[in-house]
Formats: sequence, structure tokens, C-alpha cells
Amino acid sequence: MSTTALTDPAPTTAAPPESGAALHPLWVRVMHWVNAAAMLAMILSGWQIYNAAPLFSFQFSPTLTLGGWLGGGLLWHFAAMWVLVINGVLYVILGFATGRFRRKLWPISFPAIVSDLSQAVRLRLSHDDLNRYNSVQKALYVGVLLVGVVTVGSGLAIWKPVQFHYLTALLGGYDTARYVHFAAMSAIVAFSAIHIALAALVPKALRAMILGR
Ligand code: HEM
Repeated sequence: MSTTALTDPAPTTAAPPESGAALHPLWVRVMHWVNAAAMLAMILSGWQIYNAAPLFSFQFSPTLTLGGWLGGGLLWHFAAMWVLVINGVLYVILGFATGRFRRKLWPISFPAIVSDLSQAVRLRLSHDDLNRYNSVQKALYVGVLLVGVVTVGSGLAIWKPVQFHYLTALLGGYDTARYVHFAAMSAIVAFSAIHIALAALVPKALRAMILGR
């Protein structure tokens, strides 16, 4: 992979990137869509597993589950887990190594989030410069990455509670770790619902995440 394929245009540039420079480099786009597919498989198979021993008084509709039965759900969950974790670890390494996280997701300030949020709810937030994420986007993207870490950590704690007993204990024991895992999944589902709705509202941002420009 060439260096230009790994780097992003500077976020301060208001004009579209020069020809040849992708708004989202190829590695970001590939990893984003691999993550979306793996995440969908994890959520639907997770709901299948949940239905075998529900934590709450409801079950997920079988049409929203993957695997057909508990064993099938577990197989899907553990298969997609490797894709999700390997893809996620590579994304975080490249995010730091290429400076993308520093350029795109930093700095984040609470007053800026409040200000952008109030503009967003009044539909006054500008999307002219796709090179820059607004503060709400930055907070959501950093937040979902951190929730992803909690999801994987609590997943490990309930998958291998003997081998990862320190992790299981840190999360309050096996039963509490199940609630943590469920809460983290719920946060990711809530993020995805908002994220997909916003992507549908700004089609040029969606096009850029597919084609790069
Ligand atoms: C059908 C599902 C999805 C669609 C249509 C979608 C769409 C998009 C779009 C259009 C962007 C670029 C936003 C911009 O340039 O303003 C983006 C970025 C991003 N999305 Fe998604 N997304 C989906 C699923 C997900 C999921 C499931 C996650 C994680 C749980 C996720 C996490 C992210 C992150 C972290 C970024 C920022 C990436 C970076 O700049 O390095 N997306 N998404």
C-alpha cells in the first residue's frame, strides 16, 4: 500500500481534496464496511443466543436473529468475532499510525459538542466540508470505539470466565458481565440507528465512504 493511500487530506482544507487524494483512504472504507457487516452478524447472532436464556422479560423476534438455534447462533457469533476483532485492531493501529485519529477525531471539547448538537437539532449544521467531522460526530465515533472495547472485553469475560477470570471479576462477576455486554450491544445498536439515519440524510457523505470522494 502506498503512503498516499494511507494518509488523509488535512482537515482544515475547506475545498474538496485535490484530484487523486481520497476523502476516506481505501483502508478506512474497506475496514468500515467489513466492520458494519461483522457487527450486523454479531448483533443478530447475539440476539439468537440471548433468546436461549433471556436476561429480561422479552425475546427478540426470530426474524431478527441469525443461526436458527442456540448452537447456530454461537457459531455465527464466534466466527464474526474474529473478523470484528482483527479488523478493529488493525483500524485502531492504522488510525494512530497514520495520524487519522489525531486529524479527524481530535480535539473534542464539551462546549463544541453542545454547540454542534444544538445546531444539529435545528438542522443548521453545515455538511459542506466533508473533510472535517463536527464535534457530535467526533464524540459519537470515539464513543462507539470505546463501547466496542467494552463489548469485546465483556464478551471475553462471559465466553472464557475461567481463563479471563480477572476480567470477569473486574466486571462484577459472570452475571453482571452479561448485563454489561447487553448494555454495550444496546449502545452500539442506538449508535447505528442514529448513524445510518444521518448517513441517509447526507448522501454525499455516504458516497464518500463508498467511493472515497
Ligand atoms: C449500514 C450501516 C452503516 C452506514 C450506512 C454507515 C455510514 C457511514 C458514513 C457515511 C460515514 C462517513 C461520515 C462522514 O464522512 O461524515 C461513516 C463513518 C464511520 N462509521 Fe459508519 N456506517 C454504517 C455502520 C457503522 C457501524 C455498525 C459502525 C460501528 C459500530 C460504524 C462506525 C463508523 C465510524 C467509527 C466512522 C468514522 C470512520 C473514520 O473516519 O475513520 N459505522 N459511516
